[in-house]
Amino acid sequence: MQTVRSREQLAQALARLSGTGLALVPTMGALHAGHLKLIAEAKQRSAAVAATIFVNPLQFGASEDLGHYPRQEAEDSRLLNAAGCDLLWLPAAEDIYPDGFATTVSVAGIADRWEGEARPGHFDGVATVVAKLLVAVQPDVALFGEKDFQQLAVIRQMATDLGLPVEIVGVGTVRDKNGLALSSRNAYLSAVERGQAIALPQTLIWARDQIGQGADVRITLAEAKHKLVEAGFLKIDYLALVDAVTLEPLDRPSGTMRLIAAATIGATRLIDNLAVPAH
Ligand code: PAF
Repeated sequence: MQTVRSREQLAQALARLSGTGLALVPTMGALHAGHLKLIAEAKQRSAAVAATIFVNPLQFGASEDLGHYPRQEAEDSRLLNAAGCDLLWLPAAEDIYPDGFATTVSVAGIADRWEGEARPGHFDGVATVVAKLLVAVQPDVALFGEKDFQQLAVIRQMATDLGLPVEIVGVGTVRDKNGLALSSRNAYLSAVERGQAIALPQTLIWARDQIGQGADVRITLAEAKHKLVEAGFLKIDYLALVDAVTLEPLDRPSGTMRLIAAATIGATRLIDNLAVPAH
């Protein structure tokens, strides 16, 4: 695997890979099996695979964990190399946001609710950096985890609206043996909190099954929130049944659906989601 930092090095490395199909896996590092699944899927789809590691300051709110976000460049590089990644780009912040940088990519509608409401400005930061990475690397396909389901929807909309010549692919969530969705932020959980956190996927499964059996959606969601509180979650930002494409809330089953949730255990905010089969 070739590792590059500057734009010049990136351009040379991309020139060497030109002519083959290229897949891009953008990341913020602190890699886990979920990221490695993205690399594996990218390898299925393309002759060459590039990854980026960039902890994007624009997508963190003032009170969020930018300063503490886990950074493990050497280990990440080893993991990517072992997974068969061909090129790793580690841009510096000034490469992505040079002095005088004044453009924000903002996706209206789909980015406004849920995470958008709980984390104002977050999706502007995500859409802006992903647009920059896609323009810089010009991959044929870019892969993102379904764990961040709304992020995936926002990126799809952004790529379509800007006419970016790239296929956006979502890859299924990887979970630990207890069902907890893998996330770089799980590193913040204590052993006790990790035990409590599995109530999140368990509750989503319970709600999915209830809805599948015809239970009232509003009552099911209220009971599901209650279950999370009982399990030790301190704050539930949302737990909703939504249309899987528009992310608009549903109060009765219709079309392709997703259960989405964000809740805080201790000081750690977790998100998760689950497909709900059509009726
Ligand atoms: O999902 C992430 O790791 C980040 O939001 C992304 C897509 C790499 C943009 O910084």
